[in-house]
Amino acid sequence: MGQPRLKIAIQKSGRLQEDSLQMLKECGISIDNGKDQLKAQARNFPLDVLYLRNSDIPQYVQDDVAHLGIVGENLLVEKQKDIQKVLPLGFSKCRLSIAVPKEMDYAGPAWLNGKRIATSYPVALKGFLKEKNLTADIHEISGSVEIAPGIGLADAVCDLVSSGSTLFKNNLEEKEVLFKSQACLVAGNIPKKLEATYQQLIFRLESVLEAKNNKYLLMNAPNDKIEEIIKILPGMKSPTVMPLATEGWSSVHTVINEQKFWDIIGKLKNHGAQGILVIPIQKMIL
Ligand code: PRP
Repeated sequence: MGQPRLKIAIQKSGRLQEDSLQMLKECGISIDNGKDQLKAQARNFPLDVLYLRNSDIPQYVQDDVAHLGIVGENLLVEKQKDIQKVLPLGFSKCRLSIAVPKEMDYAGPAWLNGKRIATSYPVALKGFLKEKNLTADIHEISGSVEIAPGIGLADAVCDLVSSGSTLFKNNLEEKEVLFKSQACLVAGNIPKKLEATYQQLIFRLESVLEAKNNKYLLMNAPNDKIEEIIKILPGMKSPTVMPLATEGWSSVHTVINEQKFWDIIGKLKNHGAQGILVIPIQKMIL
């Protein structure tokens, strides 16, 4: 009997698949991704990948067919299964929204009362309508939802919006955001014999995610400004300061959260920082 293997379910086809495999790759896990393959083994980690239909993944994880899954958070709201959200993965960001034809005089959610709304997400939509004390006729359809108003099937849609281009092409305007969503790792029951492998995978994923949120920052600065520059930097720890070959100048290195970089860049320049470099980090172990 070989080493026990973790099983992770990912989307068979669709927008989450490529990023899910990429994330595993960044965790140092190589998977042979043959076309039309339904199952693949990682070569260098005790992990099997099951390629499944997106909407079936929560059920398979609940039933222990797969120990883990990568799905959109929106699907968790919709499927209401007994599985645990472990980690948001930072990709496939979108929102579940209600949109109506552009020419409509939409003044607020009350407009939806008594209307026909097409959606693939009836559970989330029902929740929204209930919360707003509204009654509407929900038309559940499994795809191409945005076409529904144009062909007279519905007055509004409730669907995922990412770039907004599908809404635009169908002459629809986003009016209500029910919630925001992104890809996440979900888990069912992890058998004891797989606990260590599971923890190892989580550790790798967290290191990759942490690295994505942070950047390595380098700059040159005159020595008499170093103290002020250090005060501006919101780094993890004290920055590294190294003398440059040019007398009176140093190189300052630190790691900062990418979001914060744009807030402080102007201040760094005003305090004499030059040659500022921002470099991606591959892995970050805290
Ligand atoms: C989703 C969603 C929208 C579209 C929105 O469909 O249902 O149709 O993406 O994206 P956009 O705002 O960037 O245009 P997806 O392509 O995931 O396929 P689906 O029809 O199977 O849901």
